[in-house]
Amino acid sequence: MISFNLEGVRFSYTDATNDLIVDIGKWSVNPGEKIFLYGPSGCGKSTFLNIISGMLEASEGKVEVLGKRLDQMSPRQRDRFRAHHIGYVFQQFNLIPYLDAVANIQLARYFYKGNDPIVIRQEIEELLFTLNVSSSDWYKPAQKLSIGQQQRIAIARAFINKPEILIADEPTSSLDGDNREKFMSLLTALVAKNHTTLIFVSHDKTLSKSFDRSEAFSEITKVGAE
Ligand SMILES: Nc1ncnc2c1ncn2[C@@H]1O[C@H](COP(=O)(O)OP(=O)(O)OP(=O)(O)O)[C@@H](O)[C@H]1O
Ligand SMILES: [Mg+2]
Repeated sequence: MISFNLEGVRFSYTDATNDLIVDIGKWSVNPGEKIFLYGPSGCGKSTFLNIISGMLEASEGKVEVLGKRLDQMSPRQRDRFRAHHIGYVFQQFNLIPYLDAVANIQLARYFYKGNDPIVIRQEIEELLFTLNVSSSDWYKPAQKLSIGQQQRIAIARAFINKPEILIADEPTSSLDGDNREKFMSLLTALVAKNHTTLIFVSHDKTLSKSFDRSEAFSEITKVGAE
């Protein structure tokens, strides 16, 4: 099933048409494809990711994700859909600061399945282990961990429900060079293992080498094209 299929999608934060942020003719992504999206600050990348994950509602157009029309869903239905099918890694402020790693990940499971008493702690611990988070850090409040550790826990949280799609919005921008490399190799390994469709946004084009397709945001949206 095709991961994304967008047609005639327009979005503005206000009704004024001159404030159009996103204007897409057609855009589609196949299952398991890894897309690298780049563009200057303020061009609308985060807005776009919020639309394709259903956090924002398109002003018009078709937003089809895994064969389902997000544009025809209520906000609640979209939230539910996202919890089941899409993992999201944000630029920063990923985690609830006073909860430890395991609790942060459990919370994502809670949104997926409701108050499931059989929260599989072992599954969480295995994932943290895979992501090189040392066991002595599993039960520390997130705010006491380094940014690099927090970002790895954020990937674990995004992956715990085995989403078909992973969206990452500049997840490496607060990491130094060494941590950025490690983050990218952990991410690409997990994505490859799970055949996850990946939409990755960054302005750092040197990261684009591990992707199937690299697109400037200005190529897919008509805003500011002339
Ligand atoms: N909640 C909002 N209300 C009104 N305008 C907004 C809102 N969020 C973003 N914008 C505007 O929409 C435009 C696109 O913002 P967006 O955050 O999508 O850009 P971006 O490409 O992700 O930038 P960056 O690389 O800095 O993260 C900007 O002009 C921004 O000021
Ligand atoms: Mg952004």
